[in-house]
Amino acid sequence: MNDLTVIVENAKLAFAQALTPADLENAKAQFLGKSGHMTELMKGLAQLSVDEKKTRGAAINLSKQAIEVALNARRQAMADDELSAQLRADALDVTLPGRQRGQGGLHPVSLAQERIEEIFRSMGFDVAEGPEIESDWFNFTALNTPEDHPARSMHDTFYVEGGSITAPNLLRTHTSPMQIRYAVQHVKKYRTAAGHSRDDLFSGSMPEIRVIAPGRTYRVDSDATHSPMFHQVEGLWVGENISFKDLKSVYLNFITTFFETDDLKLRFRPSYFPFTEPSAEIDIMFQTGPLNGRWLEVSGSGQVHPQVIRNMGLDPERYIGFAFGSGIDRLAMLRYGVSDLRLFFDGDIRFLSQFQ
Ligand code: DAH
Repeated sequence: MNDLTVIVENAKLAFAQALTPADLENAKAQFLGKSGHMTELMKGLAQLSVDEKKTRGAAINLSKQAIEVALNARRQAMADDELSAQLRADALDVTLPGRQRGQGGLHPVSLAQERIEEIFRSMGFDVAEGPEIESDWFNFTALNTPEDHPARSMHDTFYVEGGSITAPNLLRTHTSPMQIRYAVQHVKKYRTAAGHSRDDLFSGSMPEIRVIAPGRTYRVDSDATHSPMFHQVEGLWVGENISFKDLKSVYLNFITTFFETDDLKLRFRPSYFPFTEPSAEIDIMFQTGPLNGRWLEVSGSGQVHPQVIRNMGLDPERYIGFAFGSGIDRLAMLRYGVSDLRLFFDGDIRFLSQFQ
């Protein structure tokens, strides 16, 4: 191996060992730079004869070219490596599963409520909503439950700041205050139309009051079948000739449609509520399925008390009707076979997603 071949091989080795573009530029300077090996060899030509200069000069040039070719090849290889490293870093795996948005849905209690609204609308009932923070008057007194009435103790609730001693604000314990609110508005409309004064009890003619009022209610109660916040739906039908018979047919129609079965018995069990007289609990019994043969309480009900009719602004000698108040959560539990009410309010997605 002559000296030129050795230099070319050394240059190739140095280029191969260069790991960065800066290393490579240093190696280039060693061989091709101003004081590099090749320049030194060119300078040595001066001492040679003309003939020797020719052959030696040509050989040096060939070697120089070989070194340049090796340098360019290494530069290209480095650029290629960098590009592929970058591509690898930015790699996109198109076979990975996509990110999906969770799909929301209605809560089972909302589903039950929507269903109830739909059924009563089909029977000609209006659907009304009332405030959850109520006054003592609408929640109790107007419903024939004056202060110190023992029935109030069954409705222990949360009192809210901002009321007065005569009209404290409380979280409503039932949806029944909506009976008064809705009826008063209804009566006002027709009383004004008939030109009656504000204070007398209206005994003129007006369309019947037929409404349901679903919504949240509150009581100091918490176990597997009671939650401090729960849902009720109030029903009210007042007219000139509305009797228990109508309550029975309306409720039977509702409950069989709600549960999608005619295999169901309805029972009115005598009870007591201050705002109805007579009063009854409504029990149902399925004739098939897992709950078959057990009486299940689903609602309070009764004929609206004359004093309540009076508080609506109506003459009880002329107007009569029925009311009921049913637990929506209870109906949802029965419909979906849920045994613990608290599951509805824990917010566990694994439970809730089963209803979608
Ligand atoms: N408000 C009663 C309760 O929460 C339920 C009730 C009973 C409502 C009889 C009514 C009714 O409208 O007539 O316990």
